[in-house]
Amino acid sequence: MACTTQSDALVFFVNGRKITEKNADPEELLLSYLKKGLRLSGTKYGCGIGGCGACTVMISIYEPTSRKIRHYPANSCLVPICSLHGSAVTTVEGVGSTKTRVHPIQERLAKCHGSQCGFCTPGMVMSMYALLRNHPEPSMEQITAALDGNLCRCTGYRPIIDTCKSFSGEKASCPLRGTGQCCLDKQADVSFVSFQMCSDLCNPEEFQPIDPTQEFIFPPELMKMAQQQPKRTLVFHGERTTWISPANLYELLDLKAKYPKAPLVVGNTSVGLEMKLAGVHHSVIIHPTRIPELHVVSNTNRGLVVGAACCLAQLRDTLMKVVLELPEEKTKIFRALLLQLKTLAGEQIRSLASLGGHIASRGSTWDLNPVLAVGHSVLNLASKDGTRQIPLNDQFLARHGNADLKPKEVIVSVLIPYSQKDDFVSAFRQAERRKNALSVVNSGMRVLFKPNTDIIMDLNILYGGIGPTTVSARKSCQRLIGRQWNEQMLDDACKLLLGEISLPTSAPGGKVEYRRTLLVSFLFKFYLKVLAQLHQADQEESQSSAKYPDLSKKNMSALGAFHCEAPQGVQTYEDVDPAQSPQDPVGRPIMHQSGVKHATGEAVYCSDIRAVDEELFLAVVTSSRAHAKIVTIDVSEALKVPGVVDVVTAEDVPGKNGTDHEQAYAKDKVICMGQIVCAVVAESAVQAKRGVDKVKIKYEDLEPILTIEDAIKHNSYFGKEKKIEQGNIEEGFKSVDEIIEGEIHIGGQEHFYLETNSVLVVPRGEDNEMDVHVSTQDAVRVQELVASALDVQSSKIMCHTKRVGGAFGGKITKPAFFAVVAAVAANKTGRPIRFTLERDEDMLITGGRHPFFGKYKVGFMNDGSITVADIECYINAGCTLDESELVIEYVVLKTDNAYKIPNLRVRGRACKTNLPSNTAFRGFGFPQACLFTESWIAAVATQTGLPHEKIREINMYKGVNLTPFKEEFDATNLAKCWNECMEKSEYYSRKTAVEEFNKQNYWKKKGIAIIPMKFSVGFNYTNFHQAAALVHIYTDGSVLVTHGGIELGQGIHTKMLQIASRELNVPLSYVHFCETSTVTVPNAIVTAGSVGSDVNGKAVQNACQILRKRLEPIINKYPGGKWEDWITEAHAQSVSLSATGYFRGYVANMNWDTGEGQAFPYFVFGAACSEVEIDCLTGDHKNVRTDIVMDACFSINPAVDIGQIEGAFVQGVGLYTMEEIKFSPEGEQYTLGPDTYKIPAVCDIPQQLRVYLLQNSRNPIAIYSSKGMGEAGLFLGCSVFFAIRDAVAAVRKERGLTGTFTLNSPLTVEQIRMACTDNFTEMIPKDKPGTYKPWAIDIA
Ligand SMILES: Cc1cc2nc3c(=O)[nH]c(=O)nc-3n(C[C@H](O)[C@H](O)[C@H](O)COP(=O)(O)OP(=O)(O)OC[C@H]3O[C@@H](n4cnc5c(N)ncnc54)[C@H](O)[C@@H]3O)c2cc1C
Ligand code: FES
Ligand code: FES
Repeated sequence: MACTTQSDALVFFVNGRKITEKNADPEELLLSYLKKGLRLSGTKYGCGIGGCGACTVMISIYEPTSRKIRHYPANSCLVPICSLHGSAVTTVEGVGSTKTRVHPIQERLAKCHGSQCGFCTPGMVMSMYALLRNHPEPSMEQITAALDGNLCRCTGYRPIIDTCKSFSGEKASCPLRGTGQCCLDKQADVSFVSFQMCSDLCNPEEFQPIDPTQEFIFPPELMKMAQQQPKRTLVFHGERTTWISPANLYELLDLKAKYPKAPLVVGNTSVGLEMKLAGVHHSVIIHPTRIPELHVVSNTNRGLVVGAACCLAQLRDTLMKVVLELPEEKTKIFRALLLQLKTLAGEQIRSLASLGGHIASRGSTWDLNPVLAVGHSVLNLASKDGTRQIPLNDQFLARHGNADLKPKEVIVSVLIPYSQKDDFVSAFRQAERRKNALSVVNSGMRVLFKPNTDIIMDLNILYGGIGPTTVSARKSCQRLIGRQWNEQMLDDACKLLLGEISLPTSAPGGKVEYRRTLLVSFLFKFYLKVLAQLHQADQEESQSSAKYPDLSKKNMSALGAFHCEAPQGVQTYEDVDPAQSPQDPVGRPIMHQSGVKHATGEAVYCSDIRAVDEELFLAVVTSSRAHAKIVTIDVSEALKVPGVVDVVTAEDVPGKNGTDHEQAYAKDKVICMGQIVCAVVAESAVQAKRGVDKVKIKYEDLEPILTIEDAIKHNSYFGKEKKIEQGNIEEGFKSVDEIIEGEIHIGGQEHFYLETNSVLVVPRGEDNEMDVHVSTQDAVRVQELVASALDVQSSKIMCHTKRVGGAFGGKITKPAFFAVVAAVAANKTGRPIRFTLERDEDMLITGGRHPFFGKYKVGFMNDGSITVADIECYINAGCTLDESELVIEYVVLKTDNAYKIPNLRVRGRACKTNLPSNTAFRGFGFPQACLFTESWIAAVATQTGLPHEKIREINMYKGVNLTPFKEEFDATNLAKCWNECMEKSEYYSRKTAVEEFNKQNYWKKKGIAIIPMKFSVGFNYTNFHQAAALVHIYTDGSVLVTHGGIELGQGIHTKMLQIASRELNVPLSYVHFCETSTVTVPNAIVTAGSVGSDVNGKAVQNACQILRKRLEPIINKYPGGKWEDWITEAHAQSVSLSATGYFRGYVANMNWDTGEGQAFPYFVFGAACSEVEIDCLTGDHKNVRTDIVMDACFSINPAVDIGQIEGAFVQGVGLYTMEEIKFSPEGEQYTLGPDTYKIPAVCDIPQQLRVYLLQNSRNPIAIYSSKGMGEAGLFLGCSVFFAIRDAVAAVRKERGLTGTFTLNSPLTVEQIRMACTDNFTEMIPKDKPGTYKPWAIDIA
């Protein structure tokens, strides 16, 4: 029952502009309001659930009691507009703009090359802006904390950190300082110039200082409103929900009595997610943030009292202050809470989420609750019936009747007690990513000893992540009271614990054995920590006695968790010839052509295109079965939903419904979960979604095939087997010293481009013409598919792509189907259709990198030379062909990586299954194929006992060589990269240091690995390399360049402008790029395969050279003239100032019948050395340092190329160590957003990331002797995988486990922990595979 009073006017400010919303809808979130209501498109949608940071804005509020303004970053996708009454919102547009003044943060981010696709950039700017508003000279720790909640899929973060560091009070020293390579060293090499990081990719001297007058001042009107206006209840009525914001506690309690089911929404980080993901609806929402009692922070004699509406960032700041002020013995609980708060979510969520909300929502993995409970915290409750206090204990957390809140009660504040002298408190958590990831398991542990003894008086242990609620080891703890704190106690405690806390084999979330292991691993850490503290306390009190022994060296290493430090970088490249004209931009680190616009939010992406008259919104209904016949589709209820205009199905497609291999709309049958069955079009996106929920589909289930194993069993493949063979395999095996055999499974990868798929289709109203604005890598494919679906000629379909917010191969094939879905709807309704996928839909429908399974049989000599290998590769293609046949071809062709194996047979099959269809992904099979190769190389090293780098060196290609398919290439630069990487990384001395470290540390281990790479660029067909360009010179001298390549963030247009500038000999500022369109450059080849800039560059060069040739007579006649005059003269002489350029393509052809050919135009060589440290008890790892040497030849733009290398490398680190796609046994994908799928964040990049471009290398076949850098770096991420493997090997060796072992990819925290076998992994209950239904299946 909703309150019936009239709606109040909602008043808030956005970028200094007053907004008075008379009809504020409580269901409206700030992000959509900014975009639709205010037409501010700078703030981006990346996930809608607070996990990516793309939507970050800054909110400022005036707190009348403290008279302070609080600025904080917030995820606008979670902020209800009704919560903003009296607030000032700053969006990226308000920070600065090219039309007014670009803010120093925006300027530096662009100049430091901190944006590629630019889609995450406004969010990054806002996080930095909020940081600097609060801390004008932030520390490194504050910088990394501020960026915790922002994901970037392109850059690898290093340049973003550099930008932030330029504002820091702490000046980092260059990692090369003292090596003789830093410019600050006297004997410096001149190619190194310093910008903290010893990089001259940008020039800090050009940076504008912060100008405080540029910042928005907090609107005085809001200040007045807060100070002077009498507080009264505010009510906002929406279509379905009423929002009530009471003015005082009395009113709040009254409301809670009246609406006991209404949630109290503070941060909306829990309620908002339920509404979005679980479709929960509330007719009344109470917003209690204006009540002073809920904001109290006070020190009492029992402890700290913190108001329930205080946000977690405020709690952190308060605790940080208090721990400095109070004696250490009183603050042990506070310190444990601080530890959790450091890693809990990102700064935006910490700034929104309230302590009361955290406690009341009590998610099983919420991190603070176990600590608050072991600390005996108390909840101060109030209701109309009065006040009371209840303990925040395990009973409360388990929602047991008497221990819980009553429906009419609210939490007013929380008492967090002081600890006592004999208290020992610790907090633990382990997540799939160290920061901004929910825990897999967390824990709070506390022991109280009898004074001056180690006899347990009280013990509390709680775990999160084990069941649906936080659980307590209550019984075990009670049985341990009175025991001494020694090993026997620990032993018994582990047994008791494992007996008391059970985790079913099919528990949601999986990782069952890992989670069980963490229970006892955490306990062991706690045990040691307490011992160490007992010893320390003992020492401090009685210097001489040794009542409690010191921890053994062996055990010391179990203590301490890894922390995230601000990474440092080095980038070196070859400078241009000093004689090169300063105007000529080629070879210089020119800023991304859209860099500033990315940072100001002015860069327009498909979904930012302004509303078109009469446009409709489309949402899709997808299959809920992996394999089934469609019996009926009932759309009658959907059509009744207000605003729904129509439902579109396969029957509405006038022409061809997709391709020969894949349908746009499923007809008769579905072949995977997530397949599009029909589409609902409505006046708004919300209405379309409501319509989707009403469509009823009846299925008749068919047997699905989901895994590679199943597919092999059922002989379910696409195409024929692909095979290459050289030498004689059978003979080879007869003459070797040893043979080993093995298998490896490599998981897939989500593209996780920050911009989800988006298309806007606008019928032109005559001749069946249609404009298709689409986020794609292949506009021509979109054009062809839409034309054939509508049964019109391609010339009637105009595709336009301004830029794409990240693609990585994921936007080659799939966008064409989305465009068909939308175009058919536009054709049926006659109205424009907008279709932007939500993150979960995008991840559900689009597939990703192919999961891989490989089997090897390898023969080698005792000296480590591998003479024969028989290799079988399988990829899980999913339900349609897509690019899978090509991917398996590449797998087969590229498997040799950097090694010459005289007798080699590689066979590959693409498995057809009932999973979403997998597609192209950066590296296109190479990252899987060569991780596999490096794994059997590692297995040979382990078997021979020889160093891994030696096996690699012995077997590496040397000099001029032939690939297994007989393509000639020169491997000289492979050796150069390898040797330089060895030298730059100081491999041998660091390897010795790693070994030394490992001798000293039992529970932490380091590992180091160096990996070589031979990566083939481009496609195995000549016509795939053709490219065209169109260059116009206008009579004012300005130049418009158009070409067939699409800007995905890889800087292609920047390079094209550089090329045009050089070829026409005009300043860069004269040259412009507008959009890629099928209207200007027809029949363009997909932008992919690392050759986009190569081939389009040749076409642009060709067009410019044609124009220059036409101008030459005039230039020669007026040699001292100006460009503008020459152009005027040319026009006067009727010289055409427009030219098309063309490049026929590199020659490439592969003959699969003979297994021979010139498959690829050229190769990129490289090497990477990585060092890691692992925590054997939790599986956590820290990336210590990576050195990459890459043979980029002459780089057209070193900033762009190094950006590609770093970004790809970090994406590779994600692939090999972190990113896991999970499917249910029925084929349902679980991992559908940043909450369940973890890509690397700021905390995951190596603390030192050094990239060196090989000097004096040239590639005569490519433009200006350059090389394509788009994909190669990804594979080098596997150096981290092998460094972890090295660390795990050290663990296993120390524990007497010799011989080869297999580690599958990704090497997640779970895999690492379970590979480090010890007492704890031995003691946990094990479940026999096949005896239970697992939560998730292994599809690789
Ligand atoms: C992207 C993301 C990442 C996250 N990461 C982590 C993480 O790493 N670790 C972690 O521990 N948590 C994490 N969380 C969860 C987060 O801690 C909780 O969602 C948050 O603390 C809830 O607070 P809130 O103010 O937003 O609650 P709301 O959503 O506003 O409310 C939640 C519930 O609490 C009730 N409630 C609120 N205040 C009171 C009160 N005073 N009295 C009685 N009931 C009240 C409401 O009725 C409602 O039912 C994450 C959440 C998100 C969205
Ligand atoms: S869109 Fe808001 S955090 Fe991702
Ligand atoms: S630049 Fe960060 S996601 Fe593309």
